[in-house]
Amino acid sequence: MLGRLNHVAIAVRDAKSAAKIYGKAFGAEISEAVALPDHGVITVFATLPNTKIEFIEPLGEASPIAKFVERNADGGIHHLCYEVPDIIAARDQLIREGARVLGDGVPKIGAHGKPVLFLHPKDFSGALVEIEQT
Ligand code: CO
Repeated sequence: MLGRLNHVAIAVRDAKSAAKIYGKAFGAEISEAVALPDHGVITVFATLPNTKIEFIEPLGEASPIAKFVERNADGGIHHLCYEVPDIIAARDQLIREGARVLGDGVPKIGAHGKPVLFLHPKDFSGALVEIEQT
């Protein structure tokens, strides 16, 4: 059920300028900035051969990453995103195994136009986990 690492997300104050060093110094392909009002973030992706780095910036007052960015003024690793073939089956199995799903448990459409869910960091060794349906 656990698939590829889709991306590692880094939360920052300014996603575009954070991504710049990956484009300039590493020569990675950098996406345009995309606002996701449903998630309260602006995202910019750096594409690597085997995964992506997602830079997220708070969008709006109620952004779920506002506090994180406040506490980590220079930015910091925010979550890991794993691919799953069937997000509902994955969710139900994770719940059966005692993992907590954040929010109302209903998948939202994520940055790639695919359903995503977030899982409680306390159930995953302190790391916030996002699952995305492939
Ligand atoms: Co993500």
